[in-house]
Amino acid sequence: MKYVFILSLLFVGAMANVMLGVIVIRFVDNMTETPRIVPGERVFAMPAGVVPRGGAMILPKEQRDVAAKLPNPVKSSEESVAVGKTHFVTFCAPCHGPEGKGGVTGPVATKFVPPPDLTNTEFQKARTDGYWHSYIMAGGAVMPAYNEAMSSVEAWHVVNYLRTLAAK
Ligand code: HEC
Repeated sequence: MKYVFILSLLFVGAMANVMLGVIVIRFVDNMTETPRIVPGERVFAMPAGVVPRGGAMILPKEQRDVAAKLPNPVKSSEESVAVGKTHFVTFCAPCHGPEGKGGVTGPVATKFVPPPDLTNTEFQKARTDGYWHSYIMAGGAVMPAYNEAMSSVEAWHVVNYLRTLAAK
């Protein structure tokens, strides 16, 4: 008789646990049962030419010839060149070298494709500001794009800095 009592007590206890479990699972699952979109689950097609708020339109590198014709909206000044230099030292010097001389002057370039000498006067003349701005924003053949690290205006500052590097 004693065992029957203990067994039924255990049974009731087990049932209580199961019910509690069901309640807990329902409660915990509540969030996943509501209508929702998991990040990356659906890709929303953007209408052509859409730009993020406060962002600038970045032409893809295939349209470099169009980007090359864009005028530089940031007038070169001491401040602009200083901002450009800060970004150059951070993002570009590892490959292009501290003076933009290219080759293997940058520590990364010794293990990567040696970049061209950006101080070369002929090279500087051959490229428009827009061309280099596009190079920074959209990337080159192997050079990475910097549109996530820098704003379009910051890239113009970098171009202004690059212009000061031209060998005299
Ligand atoms: C990972 C190495 C690497 C980094 C970092 C890098 N570059 Fe380059 N860059 C290259 C290489 C390599 C080339 C040569 C050709 C190519 O890949 O497009 C190049 C080419 C260039 C050119 C010449 C484009 C032309 O043909 O007129 C410019 C200007 C330039 N880079 C500027 C920058 C600036 C500014 C930054 C920093 C925002 C930067 N690069 C960061 C590797 C790099």
